[in-house]
Amino acid sequence: MASSLGVSSSTGLFLVATLALLTLSSASYFQVGAKDGWTSSKNVNYTRWADGVHLQVGDVLRFVYDNKKENVLRLSHRHYRTCNLTDPANIWTSGNDSVRLQRAGHFFFISSPDGQCQGKARVNVEVYRNDEAGGHALSLDPTPAGSI
Ligand SMILES: *[C@@H]1O[C@H](CO)[C@@H](O)[C@H](O)[C@H]1NC(C)=O
Ligand SMILES: *[C@@H]1O[C@H](CO)[C@@H](O)[C@H](O)[C@H]1NC(C)=O
Ligand SMILES: *[C@@H]1O[C@H](CO)[C@@H](O)[C@H](O)[C@H]1NC(C)=O
Repeated sequence: MASSLGVSSSTGLFLVATLALLTLSSASYFQVGAKDGWTSSKNVNYTRWADGVHLQVGDVLRFVYDNKKENVLRLSHRHYRTCNLTDPANIWTSGNDSVRLQRAGHFFFISSPDGQCQGKARVNVEVYRNDEAGGHALSLDPTPAGSI
């Protein structure tokens, strides 16, 4: 009785550890806008970019931009829709920001150093729970600038 409990709990631990490793090793980086990066001045269609990637929990978005012209604000869906920039959930300004996606769902980003929304880089990304089918093979820098 006691020994069978012991076996099953160590098997459980082993499974948990294996899953954790699989999850870690399947994280990928995605540069927002691909080679265009994050910019308001090139009319990049970020909806198209977002449609072409399959983001999963644990993946990292990288925003690469000129931080004299752009920044990265994360907004709630409501504030994104209504262009309310007064109270963003996060602000990044380094010009090369890596943001780890910690949960499934939609995330909303806009560039707006001047408080305006018209003509600005903006994107709505959907993050899916981890699944084997779409698993990502690369594992890169494990220390992103932030997590959401
Ligand atoms: C951007 O791409 C999306 C998806 O391909 C498309 O539906 C939309 O019309 C495009 N927007 C513009 C402004 O071209
Ligand atoms: C913008 O959001 C803040 C809270 O984050 C709220 O207090 C304010 O009323 C909103 N502004 C508008 C114009 O809705
Ligand atoms: C952004 O930072 C990462 C390291 O966090 C680095 O590998 C990458 O080359 C940088 N990209 C640019 C365009 O500076």
